[in-house]
Amino acid sequence: MLELKSISLTLADEKNEVQILKDIDLKLEAKKTYVMTGPNGGGKSSIAKTIMGIYQPTAGQILLNGEDITSKSISERARLGIGYAFQQPPRYKGLTVTELLSIAAGANDLKQQCDILFDVGLCAQDYLEREINASFSGGELKRIEIASLLARNLKVAVFDEPEAGIDLWSFQKLTETFERVHEKHDTTLVIISHQERILRLADQVIVVSDGQISELTTAEEFLSEIERIDLNCRCRDDCIKGEMANAECN
Ligand SMILES: Nc1ncnc2c1ncn2[C@@H]1O[C@H](COP(=O)(O)OP(=O)(O)O)[C@@H](O)[C@H]1O
Ligand SMILES: [Mg+2]
Repeated sequence: MLELKSISLTLADEKNEVQILKDIDLKLEAKKTYVMTGPNGGGKSSIAKTIMGIYQPTAGQILLNGEDITSKSISERARLGIGYAFQQPPRYKGLTVTELLSIAAGANDLKQQCDILFDVGLCAQDYLEREINASFSGGELKRIEIASLLARNLKVAVFDEPEAGIDLWSFQKLTETFERVHEKHDTTLVIISHQERILRLADQVIVVSDGQISELTTAEEFLSEIERIDLNCRCRDDCIKGEMANAECN
């Protein structure tokens, strides 16, 4: 249903051009839950932003139900049913929570707004009339952004590290919500996460490292691999061989 074909992405930092994504092929099927994980800086958020149209790939194609959407803008992709909740959400200054949910997410009904906020662990009466400004904590902003995505009827919803800055109770609520979305709606869920509870929701785990998909596996297999990882990292081994045993691992 969503297909990335030979996607490469090069971006320029202050000094030079860096290849961020390297020839990525990925097929996401309808109604399935995917959890994308892997080391920091591996390219997970860049894949999500390329799916949303925030980054334009340097090579390759993106297909949604067979239609080539590579050259479509962010808003065109949003209309086609693709949504992305940022790792670090922007602040929609000047809007109240109720306005955001109704204008940006199309949730006009008060009951619907209350239900969605409850699903992300926020009490509606404390939030609906509040203006989204600097008084919101990172975790509150994140949950409001997740809520606005949950309100939309999406074909593909990408949540970028939804657990960040969220307390345990809300995290529990959120996990249940993802589970329910999966059971009830036709949405293809892509959750970028490092949390075991979230990994266990996956029909498939996508491991991204060094700008590539290094592994497609199941949650069980992935979690058992993690248990087998030798804590004495390769760098430390090399340091020891070079008689630099006190060097820091990085
Ligand atoms: N706009 C950008 N300009 C230059 N480099 C970037 C940009 N966005 C991300 N990168 C780099 O791309 C790599 C992958 O980043 P990212 O996709 O955020 O990784 P992840 O989400 O897996 O932690 C990192 O090395 C990061 O520094
Ligand atoms: Mg990221």
